[in-house]
Amino acid sequence: MLCYNQDMTKPRVLSGVKPSGKLHLGNYLGAVQRFLELQNSGEYNCFFMIADLHSLTEKFDPEKKQQEILDMMIDFLALGLDPEKSTLFIQSQVPEHLELTWIFDCLVPIGELERMTQYKDFVARGHAANAGLFTYPILQAADILAYKAKFVPVGEDQLQHLELTNEIVRRFNNRFGQTFESVRPLLSETPRVMSLLEPTKKMSKSLGENNIINLSDEPEIIEKKLARAVTDTGKEKKMTPGVKNLFSLLEIFGEPEQIAFFQEQHKSKAIRYADLKASLAKVIAHYFADYRKKRKELEKNLDFVQQALAAGREKAKAITSQTLIEVKEKVGLA
Ligand code: TRP
Repeated sequence: MLCYNQDMTKPRVLSGVKPSGKLHLGNYLGAVQRFLELQNSGEYNCFFMIADLHSLTEKFDPEKKQQEILDMMIDFLALGLDPEKSTLFIQSQVPEHLELTWIFDCLVPIGELERMTQYKDFVARGHAANAGLFTYPILQAADILAYKAKFVPVGEDQLQHLELTNEIVRRFNNRFGQTFESVRPLLSETPRVMSLLEPTKKMSKSLGENNIINLSDEPEIIEKKLARAVTDTGKEKKMTPGVKNLFSLLEIFGEPEQIAFFQEQHKSKAIRYADLKASLAKVIAHYFADYRKKRKELEKNLDFVQQALAAGREKAKAITSQTLIEVKEKVGLA
């Protein structure tokens, strides 16, 4: 079991998702769907991590954190991420990430962190940032480099963090000798899924339940949430953001004839959005039917979930502990 997927000849892929409760459509299309393709291609040695440490940089409720982490793992498994094929683990259970972070901290000038848009935007919105948010990208670099991962599937908003990672690679190698290779983003091609009620914003849990479709929502709930989604009068020249969002979901989940039908109706301005929404609700509910069933089974089999996490942790540590030995030697700490 321990060495099952640690095929040294395959390039490593690593990515992480912050636990924030159950997954919604945006999380699925932006991240997990891509993880599944990479895992199932058989061409990579994949590491998928629940980024619980990164999630502490945001507002959170300590009473809910464990459940959020567990929900994320259950979602991973229910969607088909397979602990026999990929290494699935919790970031905070592999403390080498933090050890490496400190060493990288000492290589990164403050000015470079001040240029990071995630931090800059947060401060620009009038918030006081904590040091964790400031050094967030360094922990992310450590997540990736602890595994010497070559490819990192991410959304566009993470590119700056990968550039910083490569900057750290360059600096570390220059200062301490060739150790790390540069990393490459694998950008997701799926369109961004927008909020149902505020379709100019990305679908996000922080906007409220009625803005998102959770993968675990029952068909009636999906129907209700879509029924309330923002559209327009149907007479506009160009598709408005809400309508565009519904169409891009239909293009992902619908049948070709169905897509063509509604596109035609929209063109001729004869579209009835209630019909579009009802059809969309049906195909989304159908697409995740198997997942909902598996999720319920896993909820009753938490031992299996915990075992998968323990195995993931061991596999992760087997690699990161090697990296740390090498890094400490290079830096002069051993
Ligand atoms: N910062 C990423 C996000 O918000 C999550 C993340 C943490 C991550 N560590 C990572 C992604 C390492 C890729 C690689 O989406």
